Amino acid sequence: RAPKPLLGRRAIVTAGPTREPIDPVRYLSNHSSGRQGYAIAQALADLGAQVDLVTGPTAIAKPLGPNIIAVETAEQMHAAVHAALPADIFVAVAAVADWRPAQQTHKKTKKPEGGPAPLQLVENPDILRSVCLSDKRPNLVVGFAAETHDVMELARAKRVRKDCDWIVANDVSGDVMGGQENEMIIITDAGETRLPKQSKQAAARALSRRIAAHFGETS
Ligand code: C5P
Repeated sequence: RAPKPLLGRRAIVTAGPTREPIDPVRYLSNHSSGRQGYAIAQALADLGAQVDLVTGPTAIAKPLGPNIIAVETAEQMHAAVHAALPADIFVAVAAVADWRPAQQTHKKTKKPEGGPAPLQLVENPDILRSVCLSDKRPNLVVGFAAETHDVMELARAKRVRKDCDWIVANDVSGDVMGGQENEMIIITDAGETRLPKQSKQAAARALSRRIAAHFGETS
């Protein structure tokens, strides 16, 4: 039988894009497939954790181990994550839309005759940072920094700004978003570990083993 080092631990993982409605027929979103987040949720479940997977809309099969909580918008994801607390582990993999339309109309927006586009945006809640600041902050909070340039500098700065324990940096200048493979660099206060470029499943297992080792050290 496979060892279950995370038995008795609770984890929350966010995955996929969020979808921010403009009107009944349009939305703002991004290219996240949900693959990496789903693989991490499954890998944590395989190590024995009880996992809540809070997922935006995706086109891929849901993993079987985690409990699935399906949402659309960033605000719904934010509420679902906080409702799922407390947990020992939070891994924020979702590509949350930074902005949402200020108003959502119930009728299809019509194109104005000239003039500026009729779309105003407001900022979405930062789910990762809000979990870090919560009085139910999990013991281990892991964020992702998907960047197309200056990956390591931006990722190190993000770890400090978000107040999370680890940041997983990845370079999404190639075909990582939506692709099958990923090259992760795990940044902790103990140092930086570069994992080889590998399938998102293999990368997820490596990250999850590292998470299990963290709890092995602290318990
Ligand atoms: O700020 P940025 O989007 O670059 O940060 C990425 C990290 O923060 C990821 O872990 C992502 O899941 C998380 N995030 C979030 N809520 C947001 C924006 C990002 O949880 N509104």
